[in-house]
Amino acid sequence: MSEWATVILAAGSGTRMKSDLPKVLHPVSGTAMIAHVVKTAQSVLNGQIIVVVPPGADQIRQYLGNSVSYIEQTEPNGTGHALLQSEKAFGGKVSNLLVLYGDTPLLLASTLSGLVERHQTAGAAVTLLTSDQVPPDGLGRIVRDNSGQVVEIIEEANADREHLSIPEVNGGVYGFHLDWIFPALRELTPSTSGETYLTDVVKLATSSGQVVTTASSMEALEILGVNSRVQLAQAEKCMRERVLNQWMLAGVTVIDPQNTYVDASVVIERDTVIHPNTSLFGDTHIGRSCILGPGSMIYDSIIGENCMVVASMLEEAKLERRVNVGPFSHIRPGSVIERDVHIGNYAEIKNSRLGTGTRMGHFSYVGDADVGSDVNIGAGVVTCNFDGKSKHETVIEDGAFIGSDTMLVAPVRVGARSVTAAGSVVTKDVPRDSLALGAPARVRRKNTG
Ligand code: UD1
Ligand code: CA
Repeated sequence: MSEWATVILAAGSGTRMKSDLPKVLHPVSGTAMIAHVVKTAQSVLNGQIIVVVPPGADQIRQYLGNSVSYIEQTEPNGTGHALLQSEKAFGGKVSNLLVLYGDTPLLLASTLSGLVERHQTAGAAVTLLTSDQVPPDGLGRIVRDNSGQVVEIIEEANADREHLSIPEVNGGVYGFHLDWIFPALRELTPSTSGETYLTDVVKLATSSGQVVTTASSMEALEILGVNSRVQLAQAEKCMRERVLNQWMLAGVTVIDPQNTYVDASVVIERDTVIHPNTSLFGDTHIGRSCILGPGSMIYDSIIGENCMVVASMLEEAKLERRVNVGPFSHIRPGSVIERDVHIGNYAEIKNSRLGTGTRMGHFSYVGDADVGSDVNIGAGVVTCNFDGKSKHETVIEDGAFIGSDTMLVAPVRVGARSVTAAGSVVTKDVPRDSLALGAPARVRRKNTG
């Protein structure tokens, strides 16, 4: 196969989004639109990827990193002008370009490889992705002659009634012959809007006898370009369905796909069951045979097999095997919950380890703590980890029994197998195999000096 490079245009002003965030960084199923486009392009071609960005564009550069290279378009003078900026960016062997827009996150790899193949077999100067399966509003219309040959693309702003009734639209994916496209781009003149339209190269190609061919998309909505928040929601819905279908086909049960939200970056192993109103975000990995929800929110967490998380929130947490959580508990960043731990309702855990088999069944708070195995944490237990200035650690050793309503005033250690009585306020370390009881609260005058 001849050499290809990919150019992704992402330097438009995106005014219709009415946003401070660059349009192409708006997430769809948790991943920026442009990152979806880059990933799909990478799966089809292994050549250079060049992203055309506005000046600066630190956020875009930071998000995509070094897997692509960047060219600036100093003014958003249109898609034709944007592509022209990349002229000097290609290595000597490249003979064809795949050009994509950064706002089409739903494109499928199979569609792109179909277009690449079509372009090559036809020996075309231009290959267009077209569709007559989508609402045409806002899209360029494909004008063909009586023999069915493409003549030109008319943008909606310049379309008359007859053009507007054409159902076949431009998907914004192009194959171009490298030697032909850049001289052609230099011939373009700006449209009445002042922008130079990439789509105008089609007329140049057909009028100079170049081969222009078309390929079509695999899925109807695939070519949806996101220009507004309304289209963003449409893309989100479509991507969500795709992601959930993928996991269902891989052996995950989703009770109510309409009300289940799974980021494209999440991994779920088979025989897990997801109940309604559950959201899985970011770098989350769910092991086999878990039961999630109803009503759980899990961010950037790793969950081992056979866990259960009911109506609870997990953030940057790790759960080993057979842990159950909820309803209504919150496990916060830095928490490691070892196997067979039971966390019931209204529990909060932050930056702590809970050892194997520990039980924390009822409302209680454990923060900055190292809790051993087979510990019982009674109702209302609080690790008082904050003295108003800094955070302190609590250590609870294996087999300890922390009675209901115990306040553990950190830094403090409860030794192995020790018991704290209900309502005790523990301000000093408790040696192992001991009983601590009582509340040491005394009233003292505040030192105001
Ligand atoms: C474009 C096409 C239209 C097609 C539709 C498909 C043109 C003129 N029109 O319209 O035929 O049906 O996409 O989704 O190409 N960009 C730049 N620099 C610029 C302007 C735009 O890099 O100066 C980038 C944008 O960031 C965006 C992409 O090019 O990622 C497309 O631009 P956009 O303004 O969204 O074009 P549409 O009006 O959607
Ligand atoms: Ca667009």
